[in-house]
Amino acid sequence: MLKDKHITVYVTGGIAAYKTLNIVRKLIKQQALVQVVMTESAQKFITPLTFATLSQRPVITDNFTPQTENDDFIPHIKVALWTDLAIVVPATANIIGKMANGLADDIASTSLLATKAPKLVFPAMNTDMYDNPAVQHNLTVLKQMNVQIVEPATGFLAEGMTGKGRLPELDTIMTNIEAQFNEKKLAGKKVIVTAGGTKEAIDPVRFIGNRSSGKMGFAMAEVARDLGAEVTLITTVTASLPGINVIQVQTAEEMMKQLQDVFPTADVLIMAAAVADFKPVNVADQKIKKNDDEDIFTIKLTKNPDILQNVAATKTKQFVVGFAAETQNLLENAEKKLNKKNADVILANNVAQADAGFNVDTNKVTLLQKNHEPVSWPLMSKIDVAQKFWEFYINKVEK
Ligand code: CTP
Repeated sequence: MLKDKHITVYVTGGIAAYKTLNIVRKLIKQQALVQVVMTESAQKFITPLTFATLSQRPVITDNFTPQTENDDFIPHIKVALWTDLAIVVPATANIIGKMANGLADDIASTSLLATKAPKLVFPAMNTDMYDNPAVQHNLTVLKQMNVQIVEPATGFLAEGMTGKGRLPELDTIMTNIEAQFNEKKLAGKKVIVTAGGTKEAIDPVRFIGNRSSGKMGFAMAEVARDLGAEVTLITTVTASLPGINVIQVQTAEEMMKQLQDVFPTADVLIMAAAVADFKPVNVADQKIKKNDDEDIFTIKLTKNPDILQNVAATKTKQFVVGFAAETQNLLENAEKKLNKKNADVILANNVAQADAGFNVDTNKVTLLQKNHEPVSWPLMSKIDVAQKFWEFYINKVEK
């Protein structure tokens, strides 16, 4: 897939720079043509010679010196025009800030500003730096400019603590890179994805919610977009995903209404949202005060509509996919949902497992469809689950 693709790898000054060596090796193994560009800080961590050896070509380290005798004197424009895909890995807060603000004061920022190629950015840094509103603001700006950001993973950081900021695993990085060159096998398809947990108001300041992060649905939406689909994402989680039509909702009722509007013309529905089964019967107009005489407070709940069941009942051509979040009897319960909700596929996962389900980057799912044996997939990143699902779907429709 990557054969003869011109990939420029921008290495900036973070400790994760040593992991970029493996990425370059993998790209070369897949016969991509790799040009590495390093900032000055990056060279404090790894020498250009190491990258040059692995990438089989000189590394560009400054704007003013030709790297070889055949080079001209404007390397930033040359590399900008040569590039099919620009990857920034690891991306420091500094390069993210420069990219978001159009600053160009070294070879990396100048070339990135000059290139019209798609850009894929892998932030990796200390958790507090990553969470800093300035960095988050810059990332939002980049997303609005159609720059794709791959969120860092959570885990052990170089400074000795655990937090968000690690470069994702190599497989996840490669999946993201390969996705940029996916054949547009979903071109012309309209895909709707729902994601995140619904929020059912109790009063103006409180709601009933759940631990869903929306990550599985986001991954489904992003991979579908990369495969050329027209994607609408209906979500309770604030999101800005380049190239995806995002509709923000809060409650199950709102989600169902928005879905019913777009469902008739859709080809595929992925119902990844964690819909609250119940909502308060009454929503208080004012903040509920506690009462000194009563230690127990009761909220009366009523059933929410089953969105999947209601919408799937009206399906004509649509391929409908539901999820089943289970903590016990996974297959039995998922099978029941498949039949009751009239879904074509149920992706079942055991949310009691630490590395699957809610609020983590990985998932372990079993795919169920009518008249077929269930198929269990190994534990993998949510982006890989999405990739595998869409491969399954494409094979199924092509048959
Ligand atoms: N779902 C829905 N509307 C609801 C509840 C669930 O559309 N009111 C959808 C979910 O988005 C998911 C599927 O139905 O695709 C299964 O959701 P899950 O929470 O696993 O099951 P429930 O139907 O809520 O059943 P239970 O709580 O008994 O497991």
